[in-house]
Order: sequence, then structure tokens, then C-alpha cells
Amino acid sequence: MAALCGLNILLLWAGIISLAKSPPSPLCSYTVTVTNSEFQLNITSSTAGKYNMDINEEGQPETMKSYNFEHLPQTSSYEIPHLKLCAVYEHNVTFLDSNDEKTPCDSGGDKILMNTMDLKIINTKMTNTSIDLSWNTTSQNCQDDLPNLQGLSYDCSCFPSDQKHSNEVNKHKQANGETCHVAGLEPYTSYTCEIQPTYHNKKVRQPTVVQQRTEIGIPGDITGVMAVSEHNVIRVTCTRTNRLNGPEEQYIARLYDASVRLKELKANNCEFEFKDLNYSSYRLEVTVFNGKFESKPKTQDVVTHQSFKGVFIMVFFAIFTITLAVAVYVTKCRKSRNDVNENVILESTAGS
Ligand SMILES: *[C@@H]1O[C@H](CO)[C@@H](O)[C@H](O)[C@H]1NC(C)=O
Ligand SMILES: *[C@@H]1O[C@H](CO)[C@@H](O)[C@H](O)[C@H]1NC(C)=O
Ligand SMILES: *[C@@H]1O[C@H](CO)[C@@H](O)[C@H](O)[C@H]1NC(C)=O
Ligand SMILES: *[C@@H]1O[C@H](CO)[C@@H](O)[C@H](O)[C@H]1NC(C)=O
Ligand SMILES: *[C@@H]1O[C@H](CO)[C@@H](O)[C@H](O)[C@H]1NC(C)=O
Repeated sequence: MAALCGLNILLLWAGIISLAKSPPSPLCSYTVTVTNSEFQLNITSSTAGKYNMDINEEGQPETMKSYNFEHLPQTSSYEIPHLKLCAVYEHNVTFLDSNDEKTPCDSGGDKILMNTMDLKIINTKMTNTSIDLSWNTTSQNCQDDLPNLQGLSYDCSCFPSDQKHSNEVNKHKQANGETCHVAGLEPYTSYTCEIQPTYHNKKVRQPTVVQQRTEIGIPGDITGVMAVSEHNVIRVTCTRTNRLNGPEEQYIARLYDASVRLKELKANNCEFEFKDLNYSSYRLEVTVFNGKFESKPKTQDVVTHQSFKGVFIMVFFAIFTITLAVAVYVTKCRKSRNDVNENVILESTAGS
């Protein structure tokens, strides 16, 4: 009995697991666009088979038209004929599996304005942290309706061009105006900016995309400055910066004595050598220049010492020189005293 019960529980578990693992509904998605006054439906999923599209004028279910079609992976684009221009349509696409079970498909929005709207970016303005965009919206067939169209707005967003769409910065909604200001950007970075017109929060056409680079900014601070002094030489190295914020990379090292600038060296990699210095204390300043701006200087005090070998040689020479001088002096003294004695002897001989 207990064994049977255990088996039942096992079967129940197996059931739950197989329920949880039931195959996911087929991925199906689509986009709609209006091109040259034609309503174009694109199936963007790869699932081949029967699809259905319902479409009606906004708020008027009685105008609904239904289209069935067979989707083959090779063809993904379908045209829906005879739609009114300047009208807003609601749409619905479903996938029909072999049992005629309906699976709703995803799309960017379920409303579209039958309007060959053209959105042109007419001006861009950059600073080192922001991009300003302004644009003009024109329509071949609904120009007069556009300004009065309630619910039409624009989403304005920028993301670094070398990154994914998900890193959007500062998404804006612009109700009426045809300008937007995207701030909080990194200097000297290429951004992809998009203006997406929406109608009641649903995308109405493909976004207009523009790529812009922000202006040059101040480079990030220098790090890892190492100054080694040996004898009367100072060797300087630092870590190459990864926040140049500009097109050039030139490192500058300056040496000051009190407040007087003595020497300035420039290099493409951060490696410098100051030679022929005195035995003294100096102030070292290291910066990076990016073609327009210089970074905040990194300063350090450096003292040049005589090396032990140098001191030894100097002391040796000093002792040698002193010894030599004393030896010469003593020899000279002794010689002159002998001369005096000789003179005395000569005198006394002469005198006698
Ligand atoms: C879309 O499908 C839903 C659910 O099947 C339905 O209620 C709705 O009326 C449909 N809309 C259109 C525009 O066909
Ligand atoms: C729809 O498909 C057509 C033909 O394959 C293509 O030219 C068009 O760019 C597609 N539109 C969208 C919005 O993907
Ligand atoms: C933008 O559109 C307005 C009217 O909508 C027009 O007066 C203006 O000249 C256009 N500007 C450009 C640069 O196309
Ligand atoms: C941008 O440039 C201005 C000078 O034009 C400067 O004062 C500012 O610090 C810069 N901003 C950055 C982030 O580099
Ligand atoms: C070294 O000292 C001399 C004499 O005081 C001075 O003229 C010279 O500028 C100094 N040089 C350095 C590199 O400090």
C-alpha cells in the first residue's frame, strides 16, 4: 500500500514536471509600417504557418477586415490594400496552429496612423555632455491634420553607439515640440540618437536615427605616478588614462624648483627622464593633454640624493687631494728650511 502511494506521488510529480515543461507557445511577432501610402505587415518571427490579421479603424469595430495568409520564412512582408489615409487603425495578428488554436503575436504597438509621415532631423547641437536635436515632421497627405492630432508625441533617446539599445540615456517624451535636449552624456563619445513618433504611446513608424559625437571634455585624472630619483636624474612613469575624452594622448611632465618651472617634457607614453639635476628637492607635475584640454595635474615632491657610490668617490677624492696637498706642503717646507740653513753657513763662511 505504502509502495503504491509512493508511486502515485511520483506520478503526480512527473505530471507537474511535464506540465511545467509543456512546450512554449510559438514565438510570433510582427511590425507594421506605412510606406508610400501602403500598409505593410512584416512577420518578424520564423515560425511558418497560418496567420490571421484583424484590422479596423480606431474605435469603429464595425469597419473590421480580416485577412488570412500563409507565412513562409522566405517571405516576411505583406501588403494590406485599400486603407484610408490619415486614419488611425487598430490591428491584431494571431498565429493559427494545426488545431486552429490562436496565439496572439507581439508587435511594437497595436495602432498605426495611415500616414506617410516624414521625420527629418534639421539641426543638432552638441556640448561635451549633451546633444540637442530638432526635427521637422511633414506628411504628403495629412500635413494639415498633423498639428491637431491628439496623442501624437515623440520619444527621444540616445545610447552609446558601441553599446546595446538597452543603455538608453535620458529617454524623453516630447508632446508637441520638435526639439529635445539629451543631457548626462560622456564627452567625446559617439551616440546613436533616435526620434520615435508615437501615437497614444504606440510607435507609428520606424524611428529616425542619427549618430552624433559629443564634444571634447576634460581628461580624467592621471593615476599611478611613480618618480624614482637616482643620483641627479629623476625617472617618471604613470598609468595611461582610459578617460581621454578627446582625440589626442600626450603626457606632460613639468619640474619646478620652488615655483620656478625648470623643465617640461612631453611624451606619447607616460615615461620621462629629467637629467643633469642638482642635488635638491623638486616639485613634479604630470598631466595628459587630449588636443583641447589638459587634465588636472598630479603633483609630487621629489628629492635628488647623491648616490652612495658618488659620495664614496667624492670623499675618496677629497682625502686624496688633502693628502697630496699636505705632502707637497711638507716637502716644500723642509726644502726651504734646508735652503735657509745653507745660506747661514755660506754667510758665516764669508764672514770669517
Ligand atoms: C484583437 O484581439 C482581441 C482578442 O482576440 C480582440 O478582443 C480584439 O477585438 C482584437 N482587435 C482587433 C483590432 O481586431
Ligand atoms: C519588411 O520587409 C520588407 C521586405 O522584406 C523590407 O524591405 C522592410 O524593410 C521590412 N520592414 C520592416 C519594418 O522590417
Ligand atoms: C519645418 O517645417 C515648417 C512647417 O512645418 C517649415 O516652415 C520649415 O521651413 C521647415 N524647416 C525645415 C528646415 O525644413
Ligand atoms: C566641458 O567643457 C567645458 C568648457 O568648454 C568645461 O568647463 C567642462 O568641465 C567640460 N566638461 C567635461 C565633463 O569635461
Ligand atoms: C642647479 O643649480 C644651479 C646653481 O644654483 C642653477 O643655476 C641651475 O638652474 C640648477 N639646475 C637645476 C636643474 O636645478
